[in-house]
Amino acid sequence: MQEIRVVFLCLGNICRSPLAEGVFTAAIADLGDLECSVESAGTAAWHVGKPPHEQSVAVARRRGIDISRQRAQQLSRQHLEQCDVIVAMDASNRRDALEIGKFPEDRLLLLRDFDPSADDGDVPDPYGFDTSHYDEVFDILERSMPGLIERIRALGPRER
Ligand code: 4NP
Repeated sequence: MQEIRVVFLCLGNICRSPLAEGVFTAAIADLGDLECSVESAGTAAWHVGKPPHEQSVAVARRRGIDISRQRAQQLSRQHLEQCDVIVAMDASNRRDALEIGKFPEDRLLLLRDFDPSADDGDVPDPYGFDTSHYDEVFDILERSMPGLIERIRALGPRER
């Protein structure tokens, strides 16, 4: 089975996409039959090299996932050339990714499209807010995982 390269994308790569990387990695480890390389990135370079936000690390830890060893990176043209699926946290991340380079649009997913109880299309940015906002992000990610995993499985690796 060929590995699928997945990149979770947000703005700063310290709040939402590190959580998404952690929740997705744990979910596919539980399933055991989907081989992916998983990373996350931001469209902005502000936090490159830094660990995730302490509130993201804390909410993940409370809910059984360790994301403390992740380090922020900026989405690059190389990611667009090499990865198979990008999962954006909001519509502006998706637009910004397409400014960096070409990428097949059917493989540039919006996370909230897989949330069965979404009231809008974005994962709200918790940066600057209290813990409850980070918990809300975690809840959205958990709810969205089954649908997202199904889509990624169906897409598979890109034809090269
Ligand atoms: P994220 O949240 O995109 O979920 O990582 C943010 C993190 C940092 C900033 C904005 C959003 N910032 O302005 O530094």
